[in-house]
Amino acid sequence: MSMFSLAGKTALVTGANTGIGQAIAVGLAQAGATVVCAGRRSCDETVAMIEKDGGTASSVLVDFADPMAGQGLFDTPVDILINNAGIIRRNDAVDFTEGDWDAVMDVNLKALFFTTQAFAKAVLARGGQGRVVNIASLLSFQGGIRVPSYTASKHGVAGLTKLLANEWAAKGINVNAVAPGYIETNNTEALRADADRNAAILDRIPAGRWGRAEDIAGAAVYLCTPASAYVHGAILNVDGGWLAR
Ligand SMILES: NC(=O)c1ccc[n+]([C@@H]2O[C@H](COP(=O)([O-])OP(=O)(O)OC[C@H]3O[C@@H](n4cnc5c(N)ncnc54)[C@H](OP(=O)(O)O)[C@@H]3O)[C@@H](O)[C@H]2O)c1
Repeated sequence: MSMFSLAGKTALVTGANTGIGQAIAVGLAQAGATVVCAGRRSCDETVAMIEKDGGTASSVLVDFADPMAGQGLFDTPVDILINNAGIIRRNDAVDFTEGDWDAVMDVNLKALFFTTQAFAKAVLARGGQGRVVNIASLLSFQGGIRVPSYTASKHGVAGLTKLLANEWAAKGINVNAVAPGYIETNNTEALRADADRNAAILDRIPAGRWGRAEDIAGAAVYLCTPASAYVHGAILNVDGGWLAR
């Protein structure tokens, strides 16, 4: 079997209806995984894309505004969890509200932790092996601007990736993360609409272009395959060279 094959594996991707999550779901299916597409709204488009490709997928509704909403997701066996669902709220730090703090922390960090905990409990209970890939950010390393809860949450995602890797590496669960650079999705619509910010960002990216959701999929798939069996607690930057600069 190829060291890049996911045949026989089941993967669950959160926020799989659009953007990076959709691209990862399609990539995992192309590698042979059966994919459960989880979203707060219908993932029918993603399921159709996978089935058109000859893959197998299903969908499930889950809203992480309730951070414990993922508890029932692993009643049937899942081998791979992609924690992709995330939101961002933009405002000056002096004006930032408790509501914008809590909303982002609940989805990006608290739901990620407790969903991953539920996944690991299920994997460990059946004596299986698991993979977790968290979607981090450049703001897991840098401060950003006007996005305090997002930056705090993504620094938290980086920390949890390492903590969970430390606890579970010897138990058969690999925990890693991908840190996307600036990717053309709904998440970055406001930045791309602002001509000055857009130009400043583009000017700093060595690759000279915004990333596409598909650019993230390969890295996430790699972190789920036998090829990355000895990779634990890594945060793989996929940023067109941004952090190298
Ligand atoms: N785009 C970038 O440049 C970039 C850079 C670094 C990291 N990221 C991270 O990449 C991940 C995916 O973002 P994206 O860029 O693909 O943006 P996106 O298109 O906005 O996708 C975010 C996904 O998360 C889902 N989601 C949000 N709140 C949810 C909730 N309460 N319950 C369940 N699902 C929820 C969204 O569902 P809806 O469609 O219903 O909103 C959507 O499927 C996020 O964690 C983001 O922080 C993105």
